[in-house]
Amino acid sequence: MRDGQPGTPIRLVDYQVPAYLVGQVHLDVDLFDEHTRVNATLALRRHPDAPAGADCVLDGVGLTLEALSVDGEPLAEEAWRYDGEQLVLRGMPDTFTLATQVIIEPQRNTALEGLYVSRGMFCTQCEAEGFRRITFFPDRPDVLSRFSTTVRADKVRFPVLLSNGNPVARGEEGARHWVTWEDPFPKPCYLFALVAGDLACLEERYRTGSGREITLQIYAEERDLDKLDHAMASLKAAMAWDEQTYGLEYDLGIYMIVAVSHFNMGAMENKGLNIFNTACVLAHPKTTTDAGFQRVEAVVAHEYFHNWSGNRVTCRDWFQLSLKEGFTVFRDQSFSADMNSIAVKRVEDVDMLRTVQFPEDQGPMAHPVRPAEYQKIDNFYTVTIYEKGAELVRMQHGLLGPERFRAGTDLYFSRFDGQAVTTDDFVDCMAEAGGIDLTQFRRWYSQAGTPRLEASDTFADGEYRLTLRQSTPPTPGQPDKLPLMIPVKLALLGADGAALPLDADGNTETVLVLTEAEQTFAFAVPGTQAPVPSLLRGFSAPVELRYDFSPAQLHFLLAHDSDGYCRWDAAQRLYHAAVTRLLADPSAAEAEAAALRPALEQVLARAMDDPAEAALLLTLPGEVAIGDRLDVLEPDRIHAARGALQAELGRQLARQWWQAGQACLTPGPYRPSAADIGKRSLRHRALAYLAAAADERVASHLEALCRDADNMTDQLGALRLLVHYRLPGAAQALADFAARWHDEALVMDQWFAVQATVPGEQTLAQVRALLAHADFDWRVPNRVRGLLGSFANGNPTAFHAASGEGYRLYAEALARLDEVNPQIAARMAGACARLPRLPDARREALAAALRDVLSRSRSANLREMLERILASAG
Ligand code: TRP
Ligand code: ZN
Repeated sequence: MRDGQPGTPIRLVDYQVPAYLVGQVHLDVDLFDEHTRVNATLALRRHPDAPAGADCVLDGVGLTLEALSVDGEPLAEEAWRYDGEQLVLRGMPDTFTLATQVIIEPQRNTALEGLYVSRGMFCTQCEAEGFRRITFFPDRPDVLSRFSTTVRADKVRFPVLLSNGNPVARGEEGARHWVTWEDPFPKPCYLFALVAGDLACLEERYRTGSGREITLQIYAEERDLDKLDHAMASLKAAMAWDEQTYGLEYDLGIYMIVAVSHFNMGAMENKGLNIFNTACVLAHPKTTTDAGFQRVEAVVAHEYFHNWSGNRVTCRDWFQLSLKEGFTVFRDQSFSADMNSIAVKRVEDVDMLRTVQFPEDQGPMAHPVRPAEYQKIDNFYTVTIYEKGAELVRMQHGLLGPERFRAGTDLYFSRFDGQAVTTDDFVDCMAEAGGIDLTQFRRWYSQAGTPRLEASDTFADGEYRLTLRQSTPPTPGQPDKLPLMIPVKLALLGADGAALPLDADGNTETVLVLTEAEQTFAFAVPGTQAPVPSLLRGFSAPVELRYDFSPAQLHFLLAHDSDGYCRWDAAQRLYHAAVTRLLADPSAAEAEAAALRPALEQVLARAMDDPAEAALLLTLPGEVAIGDRLDVLEPDRIHAARGALQAELGRQLARQWWQAGQACLTPGPYRPSAADIGKRSLRHRALAYLAAAADERVASHLEALCRDADNMTDQLGALRLLVHYRLPGAAQALADFAARWHDEALVMDQWFAVQATVPGEQTLAQVRALLAHADFDWRVPNRVRGLLGSFANGNPTAFHAASGEGYRLYAEALARLDEVNPQIAARMAGACARLPRLPDARREALAAALRDVLSRSRSANLREMLERILASAG
């Protein structure tokens, strides 16, 4: 098996069309207690561009082949070969019908790829390469086929039988029944889905702009039926938004979503039958936080938007993954911004890009938005493909403007409907509709790494001159970088804080398009005072901006800039500078807090204008983000410095924090509205400062909130502060919380996460204890992420403990996880990508632990990750 050998990469330059296409496929899936029988009938025809005589190659992994026939005749032994990975048919005619029968064992499938069982329900996950674990098929996205599917199972235990498209026939045979589904739209097999179970359903209707009635169904276990309203409302909002914004309507008569407890990712856009991680679809005020409500809205929309950006127009090969993911993330970001707050959403997205994607770009896993090679495509469902990919689409939106961008997407969807295409095809449409040359822009897709943008300026004789210099550091396999096309949105603020006119028309904002390594731009500025530059407004390009802002300039921007991103960035720069000084002189916390105080007071004074934005402005950079700015990671000192600053600010502004918390009460029933969410987020920010300061009243306040609040946002927020700041009552609150929420898996995931992220080495013992807890389950990715993911990614002082114990614990867990679910193990390994930046002793300790895991790892998924990470160990 290929899985047992050192990795051979798959390369973009080797792309070839498939030798055979599949026009029509019929699947007959017979579900039993011990096994499942899959009969497949494929109408194959030679690809017009394929070399004559080429073998017909079908993928198939772990299939027990029971029968095989071509055009109704059993196939001679010498005409086929199956090596456990691929079925090769030799000497086939130009068109033929292939019938196969295979046996698979979904009950034993813990990798959650292909057909598997989750809490008694059969379900599938085929992206990226799961369909080959169900039947023989050319499992690649450039083979688009019409599917019909018959599902058979026990009537009583599996009353609901679903697949893609429309139900066209059903019947009964003794204790069993069956349903046949037909999907009229040709699709790649990664969009196939099947579900069988005893499920409850929320059903509503939606009328499209053109007057078609669509049936909307969301399926879940009966006990979760009261948690589906938010997803339903979000789905309808997304459908209306896509009609409004992109002129795109839904295309089938029925749209189904199924909630599944065991799921490797967030959700999956299977045609007409989305399958969702319960964490991304279930929402109820009692069990779901504000962040959870917003995640449901965003993910429901994301998967819905894929119906056009992904399904109707799909990817030619997996190197083009960002074609659908980057574009669809851009679409879901715009949707969430329109539903909530444009400025707040932008800051949240930028923050995530800078704290998660920038580090990926700077580490051993750095890769282009369109990678040139991979071993396991599962490992490339990354923040670079998704979030940086979205930034590339956003830059094109910015370069074209909204109208021409819409002309570009219209052209894209009409030209490529029903086809499998490339990111180049997308950019071509933008260039054509926009009437601009995007040749240089394409480098953003092929060049990895975060560009550095250095800005410097001069002001003399009424002229302001801004020099921009770009460079992109080397990344693995790409030592030399070319200049990119970088749109830099700019304003210049005058002494009164207003933006100055930059041209004869009086425009106060402009986009400088940097194309060279270095360029200088000049502006006439009246008066004798140098303006303050507001740079990279809206975060107009995914670059690291370096400009030597003075503290006075940052305070000025925070107070006056009309751009939400620039205000937030100014605050972040002030905080980073303060923490950096504190790292050198830990005794200066009081003075540093005092210096920041006017800025915070001014934000607090205006906080009720937009509490959500105020909460963001008042959030100190996290320990991980601080560490990423330093050359060498020293988690304990970072924790101490940041903690001291937070505590001092808590003390010095205690009165204002209590006031803000009071002003942000949200009386009445819980609503997940942007306004109420903003208030709660500011209130919890205020409480966090007070908790850090160990304010004398805060513990009892939090205890009461945790006990009495009618919603999970308040309960969990209070619990986390009690536990993380080790306040009186924390242990009791944890125990009470578990007793109360024992039966709610998604809430218990959070309970595990709260404990796994308590700073400090002593948490390691607690993580070990929780691994042995009766409610911990290696087979449930949400639980594994809740405990191990949050420990490894969100608790630097414990994970990087000087004893090396954090690494040992983590390495043992990785090895164990690899046996159960290689995709999740590989994803978890990403937490070590900061290895090259660790101080010597720790780097050695982590590398040793990882080498040990590598020597035992059986999956290509985990091995690819570990090999890449270890190659950076030096
Ligand atoms: N296409 C899914 C999305 O909307 C991603 C996804 C879901 C996925 N499940 C997966 C990717 C399993 C790889 C493996 O983003
Ligand atoms: Zn997606």
